[in-house]
Amino acid sequence: MLNGNDSSITPSFVLAVVGVIWYKVLWILGLLGCFVGRRRYRLRPRSPSASAPPHTVPGVSVLRPLKGLDTNLYENLESTFTQEYSNYELIFSVADKNDQALGVVRELIAKYPLVKAEIIVGEEVVGVNPKVNNLVRSFRKAAHDIVWVLDSNVMVDSGTLARSVDALIHPPTSKSKKKQKRIALVHHVPLAFVNEPQLGSRIEEAFLNTNHAKMYIAINTVALESCVVGKSNLYRRSDLEKLDGSLKPHPIPSPGAGGPAQSPTHTDRDRGLQVFGKFLAEDNMIASSLWHELDVRHELSCDVARNAIGNMTLSDYIWRRVRWIRVRKHMVLAATLLEPFTECVVLSLVASWSLHRLLGVPIWLTLLIHYPLWIMIDLDVNESLAGHPLPLSRMWQFLGAWALRELLALPIWCMAILGDEVVWRGETYRMMRNGEVEHATGGGCLSSLLRRKRGDHYERLDNPVEI
Ligand SMILES: *[C@@H]1O[C@H](CO)[C@@H](O)[C@H](O)[C@H]1NC(C)=O
Ligand SMILES: *[C@@H]1O[C@H](CO)[C@@H](O)[C@H](O)[C@H]1NC(C)=O
Repeated sequence: MLNGNDSSITPSFVLAVVGVIWYKVLWILGLLGCFVGRRRYRLRPRSPSASAPPHTVPGVSVLRPLKGLDTNLYENLESTFTQEYSNYELIFSVADKNDQALGVVRELIAKYPLVKAEIIVGEEVVGVNPKVNNLVRSFRKAAHDIVWVLDSNVMVDSGTLARSVDALIHPPTSKSKKKQKRIALVHHVPLAFVNEPQLGSRIEEAFLNTNHAKMYIAINTVALESCVVGKSNLYRRSDLEKLDGSLKPHPIPSPGAGGPAQSPTHTDRDRGLQVFGKFLAEDNMIASSLWHELDVRHELSCDVARNAIGNMTLSDYIWRRVRWIRVRKHMVLAATLLEPFTECVVLSLVASWSLHRLLGVPIWLTLLIHYPLWIMIDLDVNESLAGHPLPLSRMWQFLGAWALRELLALPIWCMAILGDEVVWRGETYRMMRNGEVEHATGGGCLSSLLRRKRGDHYERLDNPVEI
């Protein structure tokens, strides 16, 4: 079986075996993402709760923190006015009374007088994260226990709320013997779309709709760890109020249940939304805290969070990815270090060398098989989520953006690994342990290089704990 006359166990033999196993694991994840994507997203049934009378369905407070005029803002916000669900309220919040987003919200409130909606102006500073500061008062004002927090650049289908509430309260019963854990959070996979012909926007779209979505779905199917981006999350305020951000399981109240040692008594200020003000990636941290502190699970509904990508140049794209990786490095170091080995190009080299070393398979043959299959899987994931096949006229454009994204992945990762500062909406932050941040003062040449004008909107900074 072995290539050549060398059958002893040498380091290169071991490396090649590891390489082949790793390659297989990545294919299994990719195929899992692809198949679950097909099964879950190609058919989106209407939920019976969409037409149920108000007193029969749980109330939901939909929170939309806003800042400035986003790409597609009107349509994004309108999509929450047109939800097919009879028991919900909308709360829009801005920090500044002169915010331009207010005009759009007022216009929509006038257009949909039957939808219960209100505007909150003014923030309450509890930490460095402006989105949390903006949300504190909305949370206090929310009339319902279930909250749905949506970024301003997200648009959703009109059936999303009903299906998501279903997923939160009636999770599909699995046949597995494993103890079913309560679902505490429902999230939606981001699906990007662009209407600007900019190169960076196209690359970002190709990335989010293929590799990112595929891994997001696969990792959430395996569900060994919380993996949530905060674009569109539904959870209970009563759960959030129990969290202290420590990621440590809370003592189980019933005596003799074997919970960890009793923690010191907490005051209200140690729990709830405000403790997440010190993280930039607050939504990701809230999801992780739910998962670890309350021992609950997350669920994806069959909806997508449609994410309008604005004008993004190539350098916008690159810095955005750098920022993303830098944040992750401080939250999940091991996964971030492994990341290049999950990417198409590096993986193709690992696979072709390993297969050549072990079985004598010609390098070119592995590459010739690897790339077309990989692209097919990626295209299929995008098509499942978009709900329609790619028009042929856009195929070359898509493939170009896809190829650039794959080629840029390693250089971007190297740049990101070498620094600690991130620029987010015009502010420079320094990453610290566990994803906490502080405002960076001063700053060397790298930070001034990074310091650039950003789009002004609340979007998540960070990406999840994914491989
Ligand atoms: C990917 O999804 C977007 C929808 O956001 C769609 O416009 C595009 O055509 C899709 N591309 C492919 C390759 O299916
Ligand atoms: C996007 O950028 C292009 C070129 O820089 C410009 O022509 C276009 O108006 C911009 N669109 C928006 C919405 O800013």
